[in-house]
This record gives sequence, structure tokens and C-alpha cells, in this order.
Amino acid sequence: MNANSFGKYFGFTAFGESHGFAMGLVIEDIKPGIDFPFDKINDLLQKRRPGKGEFSTTREEKDKPIIVSGVFNGKTTGMPICILIKNENAKPADYEKIKNLFRPGHADYSFFKKFKIYDYRGGGRASGRETISRVVANGMIYEMTKDIEINLVTKTIGEFRAMETSTDFAKTNDLKWGEKDSFVSLQKYLQKLKEIGNSVGGILEIKISNIPFGLGDPVFEKLDANIGKALLSIGSVKGIEFGKGFQFATLTGKEANDEISSTGFLSNNAGGILGGISTGENIILRIVIKPTPSINLTQNTINHCNEDAKIEIGGRHDICIIPRIIPVVDSMLRLVLADAIAHQNLINSKELSLSDLRESIDKIDEDIILSLFRRRKVVEKIRELKEKNSIKNYDSYRENQMIKDRKSFAKEFNISTELIEEMWEVILKYFKKNEFFLKD
Ligand SMILES: Cc1cc2nc3c(=O)[nH]c(=O)nc-3n(C[C@H](O)[C@H](O)[C@H](O)COP(=O)(O)O)c2cc1C
Repeated sequence: MNANSFGKYFGFTAFGESHGFAMGLVIEDIKPGIDFPFDKINDLLQKRRPGKGEFSTTREEKDKPIIVSGVFNGKTTGMPICILIKNENAKPADYEKIKNLFRPGHADYSFFKKFKIYDYRGGGRASGRETISRVVANGMIYEMTKDIEINLVTKTIGEFRAMETSTDFAKTNDLKWGEKDSFVSLQKYLQKLKEIGNSVGGILEIKISNIPFGLGDPVFEKLDANIGKALLSIGSVKGIEFGKGFQFATLTGKEANDEISSTGFLSNNAGGILGGISTGENIILRIVIKPTPSINLTQNTINHCNEDAKIEIGGRHDICIIPRIIPVVDSMLRLVLADAIAHQNLINSKELSLSDLRESIDKIDEDIILSLFRRRKVVEKIRELKEKNSIKNYDSYRENQMIKDRKSFAKEFNISTELIEEMWEVILKYFKKNEFFLKD
């Protein structure tokens, strides 16, 4: 199972542990000749970078992408692209004293039970740092989704609930808190949690606008199902709801349904997706993020020998992960949307560009040449076998029969039998003359 790979039309494989040499990703099947989006990737990486906000971790990383392969003179070559982001500020010593203890709320216990081995330094592959590869992947496809707007506003943090939210105010702070009046009290609340070594989670509301209708494919590639999987694959995201979400439980059908008029929907309780397909209305969803598991308080746990123990986690932690999650949520949403758009373009063949069609022809012609090469190899084997068994090399009856068979096969596809006859006569002529391969 490719559990570290994501995406169908634009797929990538991510790798790396928090305290290993580097994080990274490999992207295959990328078209040649595309301008490599260095600036976009750098920009997104800087937005994801920890160590900026007051309530964020102090781990300082430069997070500069290193292009290992697949890019030449600033353009993609069509070969696999490998990108590395070095882990330069890792402090494995912070984890030495707790290496035999399972940190509550972290993935240590489940990784150890499943794999019998895990990189205890900063959570290894389960670390939030793994999300860097997702952000780089977003940089690669960003152009495809650049007209789609994604706005995120934090609705709750711990005991704080924003009643009135403004996206403009949310843009002024790292937490994306949308309510000006409660912002100072919220900061004081978080400061207090920091002092006592505790942490907190919250709910993010996401609005995706300028989204085309028709994205998503019933039944296993529904847009909401794919968004759900993508966002729930981010560590510490624990729930998701679309439109009215869990409130649907208390509504009647008449209240819940979005009635339709000749000018469009009269409401958007569904959150912009019906039957797994985007309706063209804004997609509205909310996700819940759990409190940061690493806290500076003594907790009960066990060691690797199943003995009771106490744990005190040193090191650097976020009081609230929300600012760190936001760029990752944006990336995962764009990756899902890019895949859905690519699929829609493919099934809607009139949207295929001339260059897409030429690329298909090139591929088919390459296949024909490769088949001729493979044919030649088989012919050589036949010759060897015939020589070994003193069987006559040239068999005109078999050749005539073969051309007859090819012609009747071609007829099934409405292909000219004259063309096939001529083609095979030429092929056989070159095979017989031994002039099939270029002379050295
Ligand atoms: C971008 C990002 C940053 C994170 N930073 C931290 C952190 O600084 N401290 C921490 O304890 N957990 C952090 N986490 C959360 C843990 O990685 C996550 O809760 C843990 O691996 C267990 O996974 P689960 O919560 O999905 O079960 C972060 C997660 C993400 C996505």
C-alpha cells in the first residue's frame, strides 16, 4: 500500500522524519517543459515555517527547497522530480530522556505497537514537519487552482467562541481569529496556558469560492469524501463537517433543503456539494483540531516494557497548532481540487488542448517503435532456437499466413488491409535482410 503517496492525476510520494537528514517528495509523471515554480514553493514554505507567532514553537528552520532531479534550466524535464528540505534545527537530545516512554496524545504508542520500531525523535514520520512535503506539492499545482479562493477563519479556540467573524480581521493575526472584540482576552487566555504548560485546540471554518460546478465523482471519488480524507490525514485534525454539518441532526427536511429558483439556490446548507459533486456554490466546511499533545505538565504513561511511568516532555511546542495547520489545510484542499479538475478535464474531452492530444500521439508512436524493438528481440530468439534444432529459417507459408491473420485482425478495427499488407511486407523485408537495426 502506498501510504505515503497522494493524488491520482498529480501524484507525489512524501518521505522524511522530523529529526532525520531531510524531508522531501518525489513527483512522477510531470509534463516536460513546465516552468518550475521556485518562487511559489518558496513563498508557501515560508508561510508554513514555524517559529513566527507568539504561541508557536521556537524551532527555527530555513526550509529552503533543494531540487535534486527533474528540473533543468528552470523547467521540468518530464523525469521524476525529487525535492529535499533539510532538517537543520533538529535537537534530538531533547528526546533522549523520554525515548522509552510513550508520549500521551502522540503517535508513539500506535507506531511502536504496529511497527515494533519507531523514530522517537520528535515523532519521526508522525511529526507535524511531515506536512512540508504537502506544501511543496501545492506549489507544483498552485497554478491550476489559482482562481479558486480559500478563506479560513478560526471559530473557536478552547473556551473562546467567536460570534461575529470578519475575514479582514482574521487576516491580521496568525491564529486567523475573526473577532476583534475578543482578541485581546483570547491572547491573555493563551498566555496563561503557556505559563502553566498546557495547550488548546479549536475549530477552523473554511470557505472555498469561485469553484467550478461538476467537480467530484460518485461514488468513491466524491468531492466531500476526498476532502475529508485529505484533511483528516493531517495530524491532529479530528473531525470535519460540511455546510450545516452536525446541525442537520436537529433540522427538519424543509429547514435543511436548499430550495432552488431559476436564479440559483435559495440557501447553502449543503455547503456547496450535493451527491459528492460541487454545485458551484461556495464550499463551506469546518474542521476540529485537537489540543497540542506535547504539554509541559507531568502526565501518566507507560514505558516500552509496559511499566507505569511519569513523563515530562521538554523541548519546544505550540500552545495551539492552528497557525501551523492553516497552510497545510490550504495545500491539501488545493491538491484535492487540482485532482478533481484534472479528472474533469480528462472526461470532458472537448477541453483537451492540442498539446495534450499531440502528447497522446507521441506516446502511441513511441509504443509502436518499442513494439518493433521487442518484436526484433523475439525474432532473434526464434532464430537461435531454429538453428539449435536445425529448422529452416525462412518459412514462406508461415509468413503468408501471418500477413493474412494481421489483415483480418485489422479488418475488425476498420483499418485498411492494404496498409497492413504493405506495412508487414516492409517489416519482414527489413527483418530478412538483417537491416532492422542501425549498423554500428
Ligand atoms: C503542522 C503541524 C504541526 C504540529 N506541531 C506539533 C507540535 O509542535 N507539538 C505537538 O505536540 N504536536 C504537534 N502536531 C500534532 C501531532 O503531530 C499529532 O497530534 C500527533 O502526531 C498524533 O496524531 P493525531 O493527533 O492525528 O492522532 C502538529 C501537527 C501538524 C499538522
